[in-house]
Amino acid sequence: MAKDHSLMEDSNRSSNPSIHDISNPQRRIMLRGAAASAFLAPLAQMSALGGAAAALAGCATLGAGSGPLLGFKSIPAGTQDTVRVPEGYEAQVIARWGDPVGLSGETPGFRPDGSNSAAEQEVQFGMHHDGIHYYPIQGATSGLLVMNHEYVDDGLLHRDGLANWSAEKVRKAQAAHGVSVCEVAQKDGRWQVVSPSPWARRITARTPMQVNGPAAGHGMMKTAADNTGRRVLGTLNNCGSGMTPWGTYLTCEENFINYFNGPDQPDAHQRRWGLRKGHPAGYRWHLHDARFDATQHPNEINRFGWVVEIDPRNPSHTPVKRTALGRAAHEGATVAMTKGGRAVVYMGEDARFEYIYKFVSRDAVKPGGFAANSELLDHGTLYVARFDENGRGAWLPLAHGQGALTAANGFADQGEVVIKARQASDVLGGTKMDRPEWIEVDKQGWVYCTLTNNSNRGGKDQAPTNAANPRANNVMGHIIRWKEDGDHDGLSFQWNHFVLAGDPSNTREQAKGNVKGDSFACPDGLWVDARGVMWIQTDMSTSAMGKGELAMMGNNAMLAADPNTGEVRRFLVGPVGCEVTGATASPDGRTMFINIQHPGESPSERSDPANPTRFSNWPDQGPNTRPRSATVVIRRRDGGIIGT
Ligand code: FEO
Ligand code: CA
Ligand code: CA
Ligand code: CA
Repeated sequence: MAKDHSLMEDSNRSSNPSIHDISNPQRRIMLRGAAASAFLAPLAQMSALGGAAAALAGCATLGAGSGPLLGFKSIPAGTQDTVRVPEGYEAQVIARWGDPVGLSGETPGFRPDGSNSAAEQEVQFGMHHDGIHYYPIQGATSGLLVMNHEYVDDGLLHRDGLANWSAEKVRKAQAAHGVSVCEVAQKDGRWQVVSPSPWARRITARTPMQVNGPAAGHGMMKTAADNTGRRVLGTLNNCGSGMTPWGTYLTCEENFINYFNGPDQPDAHQRRWGLRKGHPAGYRWHLHDARFDATQHPNEINRFGWVVEIDPRNPSHTPVKRTALGRAAHEGATVAMTKGGRAVVYMGEDARFEYIYKFVSRDAVKPGGFAANSELLDHGTLYVARFDENGRGAWLPLAHGQGALTAANGFADQGEVVIKARQASDVLGGTKMDRPEWIEVDKQGWVYCTLTNNSNRGGKDQAPTNAANPRANNVMGHIIRWKEDGDHDGLSFQWNHFVLAGDPSNTREQAKGNVKGDSFACPDGLWVDARGVMWIQTDMSTSAMGKGELAMMGNNAMLAADPNTGEVRRFLVGPVGCEVTGATASPDGRTMFINIQHPGESPSERSDPANPTRFSNWPDQGPNTRPRSATVVIRRRDGGIIGT
């Protein structure tokens, strides 16, 4: 998506005079660079201090205060088609699917009947917002929001849904995937997307990407269109996210396999990754874009399932697939720092009976932002977690030539180890988990991972329970936590369960939990803020839970937890059919941004274009307004710090 920022008009500007009131394009570009370094400098300083929590939260001044961690009055569960927040708070919607991302002053607006073209979708926010991060420009009043668009509902995306399937529809669906970078600014207490903005960018399922790390150039990565194995078009199913202390954004490719049409009889590698013929929930891209037909292009599947690094301050940066971090149905990528300054990336693979990983960089993070750390994530060691029955655990290296990871066992080199990370983890004996989603680190150094649910656990021909995943038919999910021996690069750890989700008063054994405070189910998004509050976001599996339980839990929600006491309070309830996901805040802790994904989604089918508001018409609330994923800005009416 080529664009010339120097041609943009500045007439719509309403804020940020230091960056934007520039008439000379050349000078403006220089200032853009200067502003970019300005907003990265604090991050670099904090990472140099080695305080991962402070660096990642973007603020060192909000440390543990004297007051209680949770200061708001919790709200009841409910099923209203709206976003509810506690007394004294307000929620404002920005950046809806189809809104202009800010690429040019004439960007076409959203058409409520779904009739925007593919070209228009390429300059609008995508569908199904997920992971999100705020990068300050002028601290708490302006910054960049970078967010994922995980997948699409073709019933809502196109005027007539799946009917008349065409290359144009495939291109529009591809354009609604990926990542948005937008500039946001606060004016009179309200936040808005700044348009046009020199940083605005859409990254889609067609954006050229570079492959780095051990799988770059590997035979399994080469295709008819790319005989180098180093250039891939696009990123897919971008779910959780992470940010690095050097100022970049990590976007995670989750259920990529659903986009591919497989052969009648997939081979062992294809089967291990779930490739099937004519996947029922598939996206039908292969009918008009042959690279998604694995019967013709079998290696294309190996080019997805990676963590992708993006420099949000450089709109022409080519995103990089970081293969040293391993291939998985990646949920999130959370960066912690060792005392010696090495980066440790914690990652969950959201699939039943899959694994938790960490990557430890070989080198220490250097001052100087992305330019100084552009290959940091290409060198290091990838490990899979094993949780033992005695409350201890070990990190097992996915290192070619060590143990059973040899050519004789199907791993010719390190490239093949990372491409076949699931098979390598099987061989090493990692612990098969109940769908590991987001991972976060608290102020005491405990690392938490949400295990959202696994109704297959303990079922017929399925893996039995184990100490770390103790419930058969785990419909409610749980949160596990561990503390590394030594530092975040430790090779062993102690672990326990932070909480088993579910209502302690539930009479159905598998739905009982031990939540202290407001009950919840299916934890997914997880974020520890600068004060140490743990924010838990839910994505209930409606097909696995009983109707009574669903009614009791209400719509998906965001809750705040005190990691020290385990107390949980419900803070936000989303609209009907949504999941609540992604959380970030301005460095002063007074503005929080979260995403509402797939409002109005049916648990079992695509939306009906003839009746798009059947379950929800959030956020626009008018007749015939298709429900839209959107970012919600949360503020306290008195301007105070969120959660206090
Ligand atoms: Fe994309 Fe695991 O949620
Ligand atoms: Ca998720
Ligand atoms: Ca979901
Ligand atoms: Ca989920």
